[in-house]
Amino acid sequence: MALLSPSILSSDFSDLKSQIRLLELGNSDWIHLDVMDGNFVPNITFGPILVEAINRITNLPLDTHLMISKPDDFIEDFIKAGSDILTIHQEAVIHLHRTITKIKSFGIKAGVSINPATPVSTLKDILEEIDLVLVMSVNPGFGGQKFIQHSLKKIYELKEMKEKYNYNFLIEVDGGIDTDNVKSILEAGADVIVAGAAIFKSNNPIQKVAELKNLIQNFSK
Ligand code: DX5
Ligand code: ZN
Repeated sequence: MALLSPSILSSDFSDLKSQIRLLELGNSDWIHLDVMDGNFVPNITFGPILVEAINRITNLPLDTHLMISKPDDFIEDFIKAGSDILTIHQEAVIHLHRTITKIKSFGIKAGVSINPATPVSTLKDILEEIDLVLVMSVNPGFGGQKFIQHSLKKIYELKEMKEKYNYNFLIEVDGGIDTDNVKSILEAGADVIVAGAAIFKSNNPIQKVAELKNLIQNFSK
């Protein structure tokens, strides 16, 4: 069954502890942490200090999405902070195999993300090595954007490659997902669903998490 990884990007940072409780009460599977450096993406969020603080207040697996220009320099910091899954961007690194090998050497899951304009084919020679592919279904940098429909083709394509070669990576999809389109994303082959604004800009985040979880559950029946 697919997993739900709510992003805290659109949550109330002045009360992060209770925002995370809402995710736990709704039975979230992971927590998605969006790290932005103002360079790779036109926005700045937080670094390893906050990841470490979140790790102290929850047992949910930390799904850290690094939207930063030089991820190699910070891999160790984000792993020591408690990340369980560490995803870097294909567009941000030159020696992808080296970076992936380094992340995996710490015994955690290594993911690679691709922007909307980056073809799936650029990952062909690394798919065997990685634990997760994060398909960006919006241009990274901000929560609350509209889902880019073309992303569905990329998910199908990844699923096909996964089945053909018997690979193990999970397909995670990030950006513009809500109850009205989650089914089509699951149908395309998503294993992990990220949702930010849909949850934290709703009137009832616990209920929204539960609704998304229900749709995921019903889909797998
Ligand atoms: C965007 C981030 C996403 C974002 C998704 O750069 O990577 O994780 O928070 O948020 P929504 O669900 O609001 O599109
Ligand atoms: Zn993200």
